[in-house]
Amino acid sequence: MVNETMLPLEHSGGAGWVLLHGDALQIVKAFEPNVFDAVITDPPYASGGAKPHEKNRTTNQKYSSMPKERFLPEFDGDQKDQRSWTRWMAAWLSDVRKACKPGAPICLFIDWRQYPSISDALQWAGWIWRGVAVWDKINSRPQKGRFRQQSEYIVWGSNGPMPISRPVGCLPGVFRYPNPQNRLHVTEKPLALMRDIVKICEPGGRILDPFAGAGTTVLAAVQEGYEAVGIEVTDAYYGLAAERIRCTLEAELQQEAEKE
Ligand SMILES: C[S@@+](CC[C@H](N)C(=O)[O-])C[C@H]1O[C@@H](n2cnc3c(N)ncnc32)[C@H](O)[C@@H]1O
Repeated sequence: MVNETMLPLEHSGGAGWVLLHGDALQIVKAFEPNVFDAVITDPPYASGGAKPHEKNRTTNQKYSSMPKERFLPEFDGDQKDQRSWTRWMAAWLSDVRKACKPGAPICLFIDWRQYPSISDALQWAGWIWRGVAVWDKINSRPQKGRFRQQSEYIVWGSNGPMPISRPVGCLPGVFRYPNPQNRLHVTEKPLALMRDIVKICEPGGRILDPFAGAGTTVLAAVQEGYEAVGIEVTDAYYGLAAERIRCTLEAELQQEAEKE
């Protein structure tokens, strides 16, 4: 699947999953063509404000409501301005498309600020933009005289035509899950949400998440019977994700063995 000469030095894995430690921009170039059935990812949004001094704050300052002593590790790649971010998105989206099979779906998480840019980047990279699903977070800070910022979005598309005959049923357009309690990652997505989202992929297919964070997509994919490949650049999160996926899947296997 990966060109051996470009394999990153460090990787972890188990039955049905691999996590690669490194820069997605480089690693996606090393995949062979036509190896993925879906891309499902939550890239760094480089959001958190409209002005440079707001965007350039740390990821905890931007995305966490915890007191300082409960800050989680900071993550890389979140301080680009709008133009650089959009260009960077288009670059990896273009390379990753070459590694995907014809018709493969792609799902990209995003917030309201970057929503206009992400659909541009997706289409510049040659994907067909097909729509937007909504993650309703249920809880959010009330804002006097304003709508609550209660949702994030899943901008989705496909690598060329996407036949209706794919063996995938009807999926909802709105997903209602609160943010996870006891997060490992500053912007961790709910596992139950990701278990719903991965179902856009054909049963048993191979899913790529180039921005794995704490490994939620990879874990959800394996739990739903898919193969999964994740990439993560931040050292702390690479380690946390590898450990989380391995421990959770081992515990599930153990529980199944005890039932028999
Ligand atoms: C929004 S977070 C993903 C969170 C994940 N969905 C979860 O539930 O834990 C984005 C992740 O992408 C990683 N990242 C940023 N730039 C990267 C790059 N160039 N290559 C690989 N990973 C990168 C960050 O370190 C961060 O952990």
